[in-house]
Amino acid sequence: MLSLPSLLSARVQDVAGIDPELRPATRPQFGHYQSNVALRLAKAAGRPPRDVAADLVAKIELDDVCEPLEIAGPGFINLRIKSEVLARVASEVLADERAGIGAASVPKTVVVDYSSPNVAKQMHVGHLRSTIIGDCFTRVLRAQGHQVIPQNHIGDWGRQFGMLVEQILEEQLDLSALDLPGAEALYQRANTHLKESEEFADRARERVVKLQAGDAETKQLWRQLIEVSLAGFNDTYRRMNILLTDADLAGESTYNADLAVVAQDLESRGIAKVDDGALAVFVEGQSTPAIIRNAQGGFGYTCTDLAAIRHRVGELGANRLIYVVGSPQEFHFRQVFTVARMAGYLPETVSAEFVGFGQVLGADGKKFSTREGTAVTLNSLLDAAEEQAAPSIALAAIKYADLSSGLQKDYTFDAERMVATTGDTGPYLQYAHARANQILRKAEAEGYPFTDVTVLGEPAEQQVALLLSRFGEVVAAVGETLQPHRLCGYLYELAGALSVFYEQCPVLKSEGEVRSSRLALCAATKKVLASGLDLLGIEAPERM
Ligand code: ARG
Repeated sequence: MLSLPSLLSARVQDVAGIDPELRPATRPQFGHYQSNVALRLAKAAGRPPRDVAADLVAKIELDDVCEPLEIAGPGFINLRIKSEVLARVASEVLADERAGIGAASVPKTVVVDYSSPNVAKQMHVGHLRSTIIGDCFTRVLRAQGHQVIPQNHIGDWGRQFGMLVEQILEEQLDLSALDLPGAEALYQRANTHLKESEEFADRARERVVKLQAGDAETKQLWRQLIEVSLAGFNDTYRRMNILLTDADLAGESTYNADLAVVAQDLESRGIAKVDDGALAVFVEGQSTPAIIRNAQGGFGYTCTDLAAIRHRVGELGANRLIYVVGSPQEFHFRQVFTVARMAGYLPETVSAEFVGFGQVLGADGKKFSTREGTAVTLNSLLDAAEEQAAPSIALAAIKYADLSSGLQKDYTFDAERMVATTGDTGPYLQYAHARANQILRKAEAEGYPFTDVTVLGEPAEQQVALLLSRFGEVVAAVGETLQPHRLCGYLYELAGALSVFYEQCPVLKSEGEVRSSRLALCAATKKVLASGLDLLGIEAPERM
């Protein structure tokens, strides 16, 4: 499919010799794209910019695509795409099963680490964000033709299992009747018990040793706790229309057998050193070392993540690693990446990107928590949104609120505002899609045929077509920069352009070729809205 922006860039660059850095025009009277290339060249050559612009315009060959180029102000070059070209591109979007999303020129194997909740604990708002953002990355990168391997790095190993198993045994708890909230309640009882009783704490410690040694009864109970938790996580994933399945699970315990190997490897090559009984890697410029093995001989979170990198690069063949985890863990990942580079587990040919995100705040502007001050569970949040709207709309509201501003920013969970069908919200985009669908249904019922976009006489029509031609580049930019808000902003602009188009251009009431072309334009827009929403993990209902 023809990518207009890259075609325009290439033709200008052929003459200018440098990247014209085309930008969408800021006002309709400046055409569709603008370039400051003449100003930059003039500066270097010490010539008047408008003269340079005139020279360029005389030589640039774009007659087949653009109206005659214009020079504006101090020497900007304005490009206006011919309406028949825009019509052709809109028709291509309509005909293309991928709605204009181009395939990546260099397909990669991308591991995306996201969601990653902890066993015997319900997912909280932090996991909500990780899950929604990671799901969006998986969808976008897959659509571009990359091989995406999601990794759900659940917390299924660690000292907490000692107290959990001891508590189960003491209470003679029937695990077959346990669900995830029940497991979380068990966690809290065990925790209280641990703080109150030295004797219980001792037993819990011994139980950890038994678990590590592979004691059958202990392992059995540990596995059951994982099963109970997974059932709860999977319910939430299904409820949220998240792509993760059990095939994507790679919990911390997956790496148990590798931990000693990693420690040995780092120590024998002199990368890690014993310091105060612990095995540590001192990283230049970092005040705290990376602890590979603690003084008691235990391996922790850092060593596990190093083993995971080794596996992801060495065995899964990843050449891009993405981690979607709350910003407080940024230092941990920076350190892990540095150590992995030092050790050669992460060669220079493989990128590692930490994508942090801000907190979800309550209406009071404070960190979101329940009245009792405990962390809000993800399910209660979904319930709150569903009190305001139907499930698919409530979900759209939450996901869009999560993805539509810079990920680093905190955002306020305001269910009422998020579900509004006006303003920059998920439901507004769903509504725009449903409205386009409504027109098409009517046209079908009235027997109006359409196939292609052929005439675009009105500026409002041209604006819609111009935006449609940009969809592919927006998706590519999201795949590269991992900034979903760009796609949200684009879809919002498209929905806005569509409603201006309805206002200014009658569709069903027009006639002949104009009507069929307008219907085709509606259909192409509907397609891009649906495809774009799908990349955000949002359903596009046919009716609302
Ligand atoms: N389970 C961790 C938590 O809830 C997140 C794990 C993130 N991924 C990783 N590879 N460390 O905080």
